[in-house]
Amino acid sequence: MQTPVDVTTTPAWATLAQLQPTIIDGPHVMRRWFDADPGRSERYTFSAADLHVDLSKNLLTDEVRDALLELADEVGIAARRDAMYSGEHINVTEDRAVLHTALRRPAGDSLTVDGQDVVADVHEVLDRIYAFAEKVRSGQWVGATGKPIRTVVNIGIGGSDLGPVMAYEALKPYVKEGLECRFISNIDPTDAAVKTADLDPETTLVIVASKTFGTLETLTNARCVRAWLLDSLVASGAIEDTDEARSAAVAKHFVAVSTALDKVAAFGIDPANAFGFWSWVGGRYSVDSAVGTSLAVAIGPEGFADFLAGFHSIDEHFATADPAHNVPLLMGLLNVWYVNFWKAESHAVLPYSQYMHRFPAYLQQLTMESNGKSVRWDGTPVTTATGEVFWGEPGTNGQHAFYQLIHQGTRLIPADFLAFANPTHPTKDGTVDVHELFLSNFFAQTAALAFGKTAEEVRAEGTAEAIVPARVFPGDRPTTSIMAAELSPKVLGELIALYEHITFVEGAVWGIDSFDQWGVELGKKLALQVAPAVSGDDAALVAQDSSTRGLVTWYRQHRH
Ligand code: F6P
Repeated sequence: MQTPVDVTTTPAWATLAQLQPTIIDGPHVMRRWFDADPGRSERYTFSAADLHVDLSKNLLTDEVRDALLELADEVGIAARRDAMYSGEHINVTEDRAVLHTALRRPAGDSLTVDGQDVVADVHEVLDRIYAFAEKVRSGQWVGATGKPIRTVVNIGIGGSDLGPVMAYEALKPYVKEGLECRFISNIDPTDAAVKTADLDPETTLVIVASKTFGTLETLTNARCVRAWLLDSLVASGAIEDTDEARSAAVAKHFVAVSTALDKVAAFGIDPANAFGFWSWVGGRYSVDSAVGTSLAVAIGPEGFADFLAGFHSIDEHFATADPAHNVPLLMGLLNVWYVNFWKAESHAVLPYSQYMHRFPAYLQQLTMESNGKSVRWDGTPVTTATGEVFWGEPGTNGQHAFYQLIHQGTRLIPADFLAFANPTHPTKDGTVDVHELFLSNFFAQTAALAFGKTAEEVRAEGTAEAIVPARVFPGDRPTTSIMAAELSPKVLGELIALYEHITFVEGAVWGIDSFDQWGVELGKKLALQVAPAVSGDDAALVAQDSSTRGLVTWYRQHRH
């Protein structure tokens, strides 16, 4: 196993440490930079496929950029990227290749990994998914009573939920009329109860999505929804109450997505109705695998192929663009700059698009499950801070909630602003174009964060002296603006791939395995251990620590 370079010992790290205190050399540095350098915006604005990315409102100088690019060289990011793309087992703690980029390679490409052409495998499954999607969309796939499918319910959690639900919400305008998807993830029984309450079981198709097919939440929800669906069909007289009739109904109403096809069969789903993927696809990197089957049904094979093409165009950009114009590389390095040299603890992602409302939640798993690590890939402790907290809400809602802290708080919070030039729902309020009003907020916020407002400017508005300090905006708050012409399947694929590669770059600098997630295991085990105590087993209760014992006892006393 290759030992990771300790990034803190590199010459570029030392240069960056020296540069950091010189950047903010007085108030309103960004104003001065932009005034003195009319070419700044153009120099720091880049294209990556359909994305227009403006990095100019960051705490970034040419010297810093050069040092960050040197840092990338010194830790060997290009070699690690190539190792990932070619299928080396860079996920060392699970001894796995990391090949989500193979999921979006075009048909006809080939990549042999461990003796197998993985691109051929990918397209074989994709073809099956597309054929299935067409059957459902055309009404050829019918339920147990011969009715076409109206609602697809995806049951999954983590990567088997967040990607599909985010993408479905983002691409609602592309969803076939008359088809709806719902997503059940939480083991809180409310989730399944609410999402099935008004469903017609005769026109419902369930996709059970689980890479391992062993996840407690997903299997529990799948069993509950199976019981709901079969019992409802029996109760209405739609099917007979026999094992054969129930099995036949499962075959018509349940399909599965998994790498564990044997467990799919054990659950009672015919493997002929299962779509596989591979251990080299991490859960949080899987929306473009069979895990996206609900999306493929919703937006159709053509839309899904465009989605994959978007990912691929950013994969190509990341692999081939020169470092000084390589957007995922630059954005990943900027994040390192803020986390390690500016002590930024979080990063906001603010989509100016209602359809993108689940994008920050999706990014939370992608970034935080990947880079929330304290040891490096060789098991040694990390040498610097890792894994910032990602969060966000769509604009303009966030403006009226938490932007106050970004503008005037004591913490540095780098923020990515996302917007699309063309509205899905062009609307006028009198003579005002509402989308333009919306975008004006997007433009205004990044300017306000960068350039702020001085005390003189506040006074010039006639503000009483006593409240001038409260109305001053310091500015110099870093933002990146990402724009695209419209929110299409292709552009969404590009945005996801962009953040996948940003996450990769950060992890590579820190020397961590961004592709395992051991930190979720302990809680899962303890939940199973405490479950008997919760249900009334006193011996199990006594075995708990005193706090857990107290909480469980309180619960047992108060449940109805
Ligand atoms: O939370 C841990 C995790 O393993 C995620 O990485 C994964 O996306 C999620 O659980 C769901 O796993 P599965 O798809 O195997 O059900």
